[in-house]
Amino acid sequence: MMTPHLQTMSSNAMQRQSASPAYKTQLGACYCGDSLELLHLLDDDSVNLVLTSPPFALLRKKEYGNKEQHEYEDWLSEFGRLVKKKLRDDGSLVLDLGGAYERGSPSRSLYNFRVLIRFCDDLGFTLAEDFYWYNPSKLPTPIEWVNKRKLRAKDAINTVWWFGKTEWPKADVSKVLAPYSERMKKLLEDPDGFYQPAKRPSGHDVGRGFGKDNGGAIPPNLLQIPNSESNGTYLRGCKAIGGKGHPARFPAKLPEFFIRFLTDPGDLVVDIFAGSNTTGYVAEIEGRRWASFEAEREYVAASVFRFLPPDAPETTMREKYEQILASESVDLSRDRPMQERLFAVTS
Ligand SMILES: C[S@@+](CC[C@H](N)C(=O)[O-])C[C@H]1O[C@@H](n2cnc3c(N)ncnc32)[C@H](O)[C@@H]1O
Repeated sequence: MMTPHLQTMSSNAMQRQSASPAYKTQLGACYCGDSLELLHLLDDDSVNLVLTSPPFALLRKKEYGNKEQHEYEDWLSEFGRLVKKKLRDDGSLVLDLGGAYERGSPSRSLYNFRVLIRFCDDLGFTLAEDFYWYNPSKLPTPIEWVNKRKLRAKDAINTVWWFGKTEWPKADVSKVLAPYSERMKKLLEDPDGFYQPAKRPSGHDVGRGFGKDNGGAIPPNLLQIPNSESNGTYLRGCKAIGGKGHPARFPAKLPEFFIRFLTDPGDLVVDIFAGSNTTGYVAEIEGRRWASFEAEREYVAASVFRFLPPDAPETTMREKYEQILASESVDLSRDRPMQERLFAVTS
């Protein structure tokens, strides 16, 4: 169990600037506003991980608005430049970007690759590793090229660029081991029966070292995570206020992977396009300090539901929501810690 009263921000910067959060918890705080302004409130060289999913350069406008592809790189670079200042030298930026098509043509946009090159060449990030998030529950789109004309396969992958501020971002892959395959489990049960000294087609020797149980397999950079979570308390709250959930929520497993992989308990995790604040929620559960920034007050207000007890009455949910809409700051920092609540549910 982690220390309950870690300071929310890396310093008293937030107080100095008298920015009050929309709500705060034991470990973090969610702010409503433009991240370009809110990022200034963080100390330089203080953040361990910025994990975020900006509005994509989509042709079809989402309800929260997004930039046209040609202005996208310039727009996102402004955030990237500031993020780099705020990261520690061993800090990481993880950027999730969905793919897109060119207008009126079955040709893919290069915008996500342009962002990658721009961030490295102009902003000075290093590409620590390129990840691909495969979402098997994605619907086949765009309808015109995929369903109607049958010219393209379903687009089910987002590119997730993991940037380092330097060449040596903190990371420990042993914290995110994947379950072993059935074949590997058999090998571990009976290494001698299974082991036949052999050379692989690549010419590498397959030695007995492969029979050692490391607690799981090294995960690949293809993350298979369906976006089909039920988001219990969050969606219950949305229903109580007569709304629907944020349209582009992360599945919790995505931030969970990078938070465990790239940070330690007590580290500071920031999401600058927080939406429904999945990142802050996972950070809280994982015992990391966090700060989340979101421009739309209604999204911020609804995201508070994630931090309420699963049995919170609808009246309480509506009350907190209304308080945040009215720009009152909600303090949940004295509530029962999230980890304890989860433990109570699972034990
Ligand atoms: C793709 S969504 C993020 C969803 C989020 N990952 C989740 O799990 O809910 C992007 C969000 O960025 C917000 N946004 C756009 N421009 C912003 C800005 N300048 N500052 C803060 N938030 C912004 C949008 O309102 C939108 O909710």
